[in-house]
Amino acid sequence: MKEKLQQIKQAALAELQAPDCDTEALRVKYLGKKGELTAVLRGMGALTPEERPVVGQMANDVRAEIEAALAERVAAAKEQALIDRLAREKLDVTMPAKCDRVGHQHPLTRAQREMEEIFIGMGFEIAEGPEVEYDYYNFQALNIPENHPARDTQDTFYITDNILLRSQTSPVQVRVMEKQSPPIRVISPGRVYRSDALDATHSPLFHQMEGLVVDKGITMSDLKGTLETFARKMFGEKTEIRFRPHHFPFTEPSAEVDVSCFVCGGKGCRVCKGEGWIEILGAGMVHPFVLSNCGIDPEVYSGFAFGMGLERVTMTRYGIDDIRLFYENDERFLKQF
Ligand code: PHE
Repeated sequence: MKEKLQQIKQAALAELQAPDCDTEALRVKYLGKKGELTAVLRGMGALTPEERPVVGQMANDVRAEIEAALAERVAAAKEQALIDRLAREKLDVTMPAKCDRVGHQHPLTRAQREMEEIFIGMGFEIAEGPEVEYDYYNFQALNIPENHPARDTQDTFYITDNILLRSQTSPVQVRVMEKQSPPIRVISPGRVYRSDALDATHSPLFHQMEGLVVDKGITMSDLKGTLETFARKMFGEKTEIRFRPHHFPFTEPSAEVDVSCFVCGGKGCRVCKGEGWIEILGAGMVHPFVLSNCGIDPEVYSGFAFGMGLERVTMTRYGIDDIRLFYENDERFLKQF
């Protein structure tokens, strides 16, 4: 019996040596209820009382040795599995990371924000109005009655007879003056629409920024000082502005305003097309009819207004020569800002 135990031990340890042995199958084979060791222990009854404890002790030792060898194999197999897995799932933590592509503001948005900051710094507030607008606000209240020739210069998208896509931000002047009493100091940036064909300088959708100041004693020199301050902050300290007489139905007197070319300083170059000046906006003193239309007494109050094209200012500022670039979302263009 002792020999049998020795044999079992040797056989078990030998089988456990094999690198790809099935440890669970070997556990069943040697230590299981129907295993070889159990079979030997069953035969213990045939032994003499003196032999029994000796063989029993020996059987226990054999069992312990096989169990230890098994545990070692299982641990070794686990470790090998981990090593294999680490090799398989190799991860190079020193590899450069995939960078997220971070976008940025559109050049028009950036220019708009910059302009807003400049005017906010001068005490202006931002006002907004609808893009789908009544004929009354876009034209009539601004002293442009039906059949007025000014309507032709702003080719308008009509939705119904009296509802349209605003062709300018000036209707916001009226909406603000209806609601607020002077002193008023607002700018109003936003989209405007004109039924123009798309080319290098025209787009059926573009942006304007309106400005309106109404108070007691506002004069043309306030307008000039405000626009000069704006132009110098936007285009550089050396910038000069120039007023040319013009006509708008809702301002009197009216002017078109140019800034000296910030590229050549006025000598004439490609950006200003040899002029030395670049037109950026229309402006004037708010017409007394417009004030009255909004319930503000023109005998007590006066005001100035201006409206500038955001695209034009941005194109001037960055030397962009085609308005379509703003709307095409071509990354090669956008990335430059
Ligand atoms: N609304 C005018 C335009 O679109 C510009 C303007 C605004 C002129 C305010 C005078 C005062 O041409």
